[in-house]
Order: sequence, then C-alpha cells, then structure tokens
Amino acid sequence: MKEPIVSMKNVSYAYEEKTVLDHIHFELPQGSFMGLVGPNGGGKTTLIKLLLGLLKPDEGSIELFGKPIGKFKERNKIGFVSQKANTFNRGFPATVFEVVSTGLTAKVGYFKFFSRKHKAKVLEAINQVGMLEYAYENIGNLSGGQQQRVFIARALVNDPELLILDEPTVGVDYENVRRFYELLHQLHEVKNITLLLITHDTGTMTEHATDIVCLNKTLHFHGKPEDYTSLTEEDLSNFYGHPVNVVAHNH
Ligand SMILES: Nc1ncnc2c1ncn2[C@@H]1O[C@H](COP(=O)(O)OP(=O)(O)O)[C@@H](O)[C@H]1O
Ligand SMILES: [Mg+2]
Repeated sequence: MKEPIVSMKNVSYAYEEKTVLDHIHFELPQGSFMGLVGPNGGGKTTLIKLLLGLLKPDEGSIELFGKPIGKFKERNKIGFVSQKANTFNRGFPATVFEVVSTGLTAKVGYFKFFSRKHKAKVLEAINQVGMLEYAYENIGNLSGGQQQRVFIARALVNDPELLILDEPTVGVDYENVRRFYELLHQLHEVKNITLLLITHDTGTMTEHATDIVCLNKTLHFHGKPEDYTSLTEEDLSNFYGHPVNVVAHNH
C-alpha cells in the first residue's frame, strides 16, 4: 500500500451549530484516482476546504504528504480547481496566458521580471490541456469546456503531485465531459498525478476512478468502483436520504 498523501483522522467540522462533517476518517493513497460523491450539502466542498487549510477542523487531525497540516508549506504540491471556476465571469478581460500565470506560486514581478522560465512553465501547462493555440485569446471568447481546460492548466502550472477538482463537469456537454476524462486519464497515467475528483456524473467517473468515497456528513462508502456500481438502489437511497434511480452504465 502506497503512502497516503492526505490523511484525516476523526475530523469534525460545524458551521455555527450545524455539524457538516462528523468524525471523518479519510485517506487518499498516492497514485490513486479517487472519486468523491454524495448528495448536495453532504460536505464535499467543506472537506476540500479543510484539506487546503482554508478551514480548521473543530476536532481531529489532518496530515498532508506525511506532515501535520500546520507544518505543511509545499503548497505547490497541491493543485485545485474550485467549484466556482465554472461560474467564471465571461467578461473578464484576460488572456489564457494571463489566467494560467496567476496560478504560479513562485513570486513573479509581472511586468518586469516575468522570466523565460516562468513563461515556459505557463505555456507547458497550457499545452498539457491542449489549449496552446488559444494561449493569447481572451478567456471570455472561449466555450465552457475550453475555459474549464484553462482552469485545469492554472492548477497544473506548479507541477502538482495532487490535483483536486470540485465538480468540474457541471454544465459541460457530453463531448467535453468525455474529453475532460481523457485529460484526467492522461494526467493520472502519464504524469502520475494523484487525483481527487468531486462529481455527480458517477457513470463516467466509475469507469476511470481507482477508488470511490461517498460522503454525507459521515463516510458511507469507501471502496473500488466495481463495489460502488454493485450497490443497490436501496443502498444508495439510504445513503442519499432520498430515492435514487440507478442509471445503468455497462456499455
Ligand atoms: N460558509 C458557510 N456557512 C454556513 N453553512 C455553510 C457554509 N458553507 C456550506 N455550508 C453548509 O454546509 C453544508 C455542506 O456544504 P458543502 O460542503 O458545500 O456540501 P457539498 O459540497 O457536498 O454540496 C451545507 O448544508 C451548506 O449549506
Ligand atoms: Mg460542493
């Protein structure tokens, strides 16, 4: 078993009085492609905010790359595409190159000292997501699927070992969802990036993920995709708290 690169022990979190995460034990093994699913309001984004250090747990402990989160300084090891990326203001006046540059954690004096090295990193990230020919386009002129690739490039620009994506396929059409999973597959297999993907499209995700976790205040399931897809409607309804129609996806 590979080292976990994220480890949560006994983590609880409440907004005001409302407990959102209740004694969570969670491990993300290095090299995995983990799908994180669960009903809306189940605490998925909150869990991500805790592991990015944006929120502090009320109880329990979190380790990143073997270090307590308070001592973890190598933020460049974690790339993040937030849920907000898909509600991005299309009128925002910036080129693809500029948007991706904002992901660099290294200090860059934008106007004077944007070094050749930084420029090369930015272009490499744009190339990785297949958007090189749009590098100097205004981001507002791109389609939703293309903008999504740009935000992934922004998360890749520091060569992260872990990439976290929070509902990146919401509002993306079928063809772009397929291309998106091809890109994730490549990042996982070729670049050996560990992936944590929050998504509702379990049909497509279970074809690619190595591990699946279901979260609804507590962890209800942690296993392999084949175990998840063999859950019954009753199992899923109990977990989601309302009836769920199982959609067959054995093409
Ligand atoms: N900043 C906040 N203040 C108060 N409640 C919040 C806040 N953010 C989220 N919540 C509540 O916490 C619960 C979990 O939210 P969230 O982690 O966003 O769930 P998910 O990402 O699984 O949809 C929801 O009931 C949500 O309304
Ligand atoms: Mg969320």
